[in-house]
Amino acid sequence: MSENILVAVAWPYANADIHVGNLTGAYLPADIFARYHRLAGNRVLMVSGSDAHGTPVTVLADAEGTTPLAIYEHFHARFLDLFQQLGLTYDLFTSTHTANHFRVSQDIFARLAQQAMLYTATGQQWYSPAERRFLPDRYVEGECYLCHYPNARGDQCDNCGNLLDATQLINPRAKTSGLALELRDSEHYYLDLAKLAPALSRWLADDKAHWRPQVLNPSRRQADSGELRGRAITRDLDWGIPVPVAGWEGKCLYVWFEAVIGYLSASIEWSAQRAGSPQAWKDWWYDPRAKTYYFIGKDNIPFHAVIWPAELLGVERLYEADPAKTLNLPYDVPANEFLNLEGQKISGSRNWAVWGLDFLSRYDPDPLRYYLTAVMPETRDAEWEWAGFVQHNNNELVATWGNLANRVLTFAYKHWEGRVPDPGTLRPQDQELLAKIDAGFQAVGDLIQAVKLRAALGEALALATEANRYLDQQGPWFEIKQDKAEAARTVYTALRAIDSLKVIFAPFLPFTAERLHQFLGYDGRLFGAQRVERYADALVSHAALVYDPDGASGQWAPSRLRPGQALRQPSPLFRKLDEVVIADEKARLGQPAAG
Ligand code: MF3
Ligand code: ZN
Repeated sequence: MSENILVAVAWPYANADIHVGNLTGAYLPADIFARYHRLAGNRVLMVSGSDAHGTPVTVLADAEGTTPLAIYEHFHARFLDLFQQLGLTYDLFTSTHTANHFRVSQDIFARLAQQAMLYTATGQQWYSPAERRFLPDRYVEGECYLCHYPNARGDQCDNCGNLLDATQLINPRAKTSGLALELRDSEHYYLDLAKLAPALSRWLADDKAHWRPQVLNPSRRQADSGELRGRAITRDLDWGIPVPVAGWEGKCLYVWFEAVIGYLSASIEWSAQRAGSPQAWKDWWYDPRAKTYYFIGKDNIPFHAVIWPAELLGVERLYEADPAKTLNLPYDVPANEFLNLEGQKISGSRNWAVWGLDFLSRYDPDPLRYYLTAVMPETRDAEWEWAGFVQHNNNELVATWGNLANRVLTFAYKHWEGRVPDPGTLRPQDQELLAKIDAGFQAVGDLIQAVKLRAALGEALALATEANRYLDQQGPWFEIKQDKAEAARTVYTALRAIDSLKVIFAPFLPFTAERLHQFLGYDGRLFGAQRVERYADALVSHAALVYDPDGASGQWAPSRLRPGQALRQPSPLFRKLDEVVIADEKARLGQPAAG
């Protein structure tokens, strides 16, 4: 039975480039998961986009003397480039700066108001008379009223570590200009989380045995604490989505409130633009059998396991009249921990980072996908080490998997006139190897479904090691001198093992899997194609990354390779890396970026 699987992927802030920590934290695991489910015959919808609004974008725009729109467009274009190069197959990667997203976010806001899940309250906030705007807490600096450290931030003091009430800062000034500030009243809308807490608690108490404890435990604690309070969901800002209420001009929806709505709005945009059926999104959002997975980093857990579910519970239904239907809540939120780099936290500002686009200007995408899966921080923080990257590349991708494929293909191509040899009857040892590999589909598939991608990749590699062992034991290069029929059995068996392993590795290593698919003589492709399309929206003409499933022939099933099938001239799938790479790359870390 085919399942509907929503792969909801964290929306990157459009104010910085993407590094390997972001990739392994959310974007790559989502793609592996989506590709597996497509091969397994499920209906996948994978959506995300650029998180275009909020102060991170406006602050950078001010610093660079440009507009928030220009900042967003600059980074958005770079995301599309990176994701395409790395083969991240979003059905739609759009942005929050679209008329569609504005409409859906405002409709959610209106529906929450109608359901009495919002209230307004007035509080004091720092206002910059010089800039004629309210400042968000973290853009206010001043003396800490607890320890008297002179450079505390409005939200937090880095000296004593306390969370602060920004309005109590002594001698406050604007972080960007240093100019003096004054307190002014400001009215805002709040999401009534206290009212929503009981429903949240009930939902989190349901069967969640498949959730990661580091996601489930703090979320349950928050929902059950009795301390969930209203949260302001509007801001005094002009870059963002206007609050859809008369008299509220000059205020916008809080970026976190609307960014999570992107999962829904992007699904709706995909339906209209790509699916050719404006209602298609409902198969993932209203069908109770659909499963929705949210791939995020651990810093996003409260927003996806508490706030977004609270919004969905409060809304109940949108664009749907049937009172029996309610919007689907997250089925799982497989958040990853952090990736560190050579013993230190990744830091963009210090250039202590491996940037996606920069990496791909020197190396291929599959080795990056492989290494980031092998060290994926699924249960605890993990480490990127250049020595580790070279080792995994050389010992596993090149020596174990790549060599296996290359030596068998080259040998077959040379001795059987470029065709798959006819094995006659298989021997017990041949059947034994094939049975082991066939069983791998279940084992690896189960691990991927459980979002244990590191273990799944380990299992796939163990199968490649098995196949190497078989090949070394049989030694077809000796067999062929005695009895070509024996060698044919071995080579046929090995080709079939490789053909199966190609599929098992494909979610992780899609580029080399497609090449191997060609070498093995198949026409067509395992997966569909990605491309960038421009959509004219009432708000902007924006570029989006899309995935076209047409032409995908892949299946999550063991090889049935036919004797006699014509092979294509093989070449190595992976490149061995020189050890000198390690020192070269480490020397770049922390240096001012070139260009
Ligand atoms: N842009 C934010 C981040 O990268 C939020 C991502 S998930 C969203 O941390 F759904 F909220 F957008
Ligand atoms: Zn302090």
